[in-house]
Amino acid sequence: MTVTVPLYIQIREALAERIQSGEWPPGTRIPAERELVTEFGASRGTIRQAINDLVSKGLLRRVQGSGTYVADPKVDVPAHLLLSFTETMRRHGLEPGAQVLSVETVPASRKLCQLLNLSLGDQVYQIVRLRTGNNQPVALEYSHFPVKLCPGLERFDLQGRSIYRILDEEYGLALVRAEQTLEPTLARRFEAEVLGVPEGAPLMLWERLAFTSTGLPVEYAKDLYRGDRVRFRVMLHLPG
Ligand code: GLP
Repeated sequence: MTVTVPLYIQIREALAERIQSGEWPPGTRIPAERELVTEFGASRGTIRQAINDLVSKGLLRRVQGSGTYVADPKVDVPAHLLLSFTETMRRHGLEPGAQVLSVETVPASRKLCQLLNLSLGDQVYQIVRLRTGNNQPVALEYSHFPVKLCPGLERFDLQGRSIYRILDEEYGLALVRAEQTLEPTLARRFEAEVLGVPEGAPLMLWERLAFTSTGLPVEYAKDLYRGDRVRFRVMLHLPG
């Protein structure tokens, strides 16, 4: 059986190749739809489909009233290293930022009690932050820390300082190990608004339980990373 690759995919790959080879560096305005129609001998709808795919993959971005541009390369996140958001952005040459959306002290749920080794009735800080790289939204973080381990955490500058640094420097809680899962998900309305993506855009859900060297669980976090801004890299070894 021979399968013909749909024309829009062929065009998409041809355009992606121009971006990835550096022929069209970040910031380049790509030719107008009608020019691509002539170049590829395809319909406007086909060209649009190819471009839409590249926009949702994060290779292109549309600027209203101006055109379609080659996006900045994705942030390459080493998923096998325990890094704070601040360190991840700096490694990539981006200025890390945080906007605190809410800080609350709430009783730990059953699930949090289990994960963080707490008793029912114990309190946790629930901190929601929008994280940025060079002022562009990258991730939405929902982090939880037991109040008894870091009382007064809410009084620190959670916008300007790395939480992992605060935990280490102010409470002697250096996080050295974490269990983490990554799974794809779609942006719901609130997340889409905060992250500046369309509703239903692809996101990566990153769930982490982080420990000190003595095995004390200190943080449980659920982060949503923009699928068009970040990709994850892992180093593989043979088992055994
Ligand atoms: C990453 C982790 C979060 C953690 C955050 C701390 O995003 N996935 O679980 O809360 O880093 O970042 P920072 O120390 O920059 O505040």
